[in-house]
Amino acid sequence: MEKTLIILKPDALQRRLLGKILTRFEEKGFQIIGLKMIQISETVARKHYAAHEGRDFFEPLVRYTTSAPVVVMVLKGKNAVEIVRKMMGATFGSKAESGTIRGDYAVSNRFNLIHGSDSSASAEKEIGIFFKKDELFEYNPADIHWIYDMSTGDIV
Ligand code: RTP
Ligand code: MG
Repeated sequence: MEKTLIILKPDALQRRLLGKILTRFEEKGFQIIGLKMIQISETVARKHYAAHEGRDFFEPLVRYTTSAPVVVMVLKGKNAVEIVRKMMGATFGSKAESGTIRGDYAVSNRFNLIHGSDSSASAEKEIGIFFKKDELFEYNPADIHWIYDMSTGDIV
């Protein structure tokens, strides 16, 4: 099972889309193991998006990320990173496929509602930035045996 960090960005909260987006992940079968509302500081935004430092969109990206509260969460599931990225759609709202979160709800190339980790290694790093150990929960979802076929010992 893999973990991934999601940020429901300032526009998701301001546009009252939190519930709709969260519902997609719940309905898909992911387990929510951490969830909270925060306002991202400039220091944290710069750290989280450090890979983009120096790009022309970096300063506007930091301003956007820190402009209003966000919801951060950790999802758990098999291949969670790849599946969540697929559900998010392409980075630019203008290019994202219909049926994806950005494709259905965003037109902007910057205000694109959601962040999802792009690899398992980034997820580990990003989870460490946003969550303390005691803010993450280990529990057995009641429906896990209907989400995956676990009868063979594998998770299928
Ligand atoms: P994210 O990190 O937020 O999940 O988004 P992503 O992987 O799909 O895209 P990434 O390349 O990591 O870009 C990070 C965020 O920066 C803003 N952006 N603006 N050319 C631009 O103006 C531009 N390019 C990227 C977006 O908010 C993007 O999600
Ligand atoms: Mg990215």
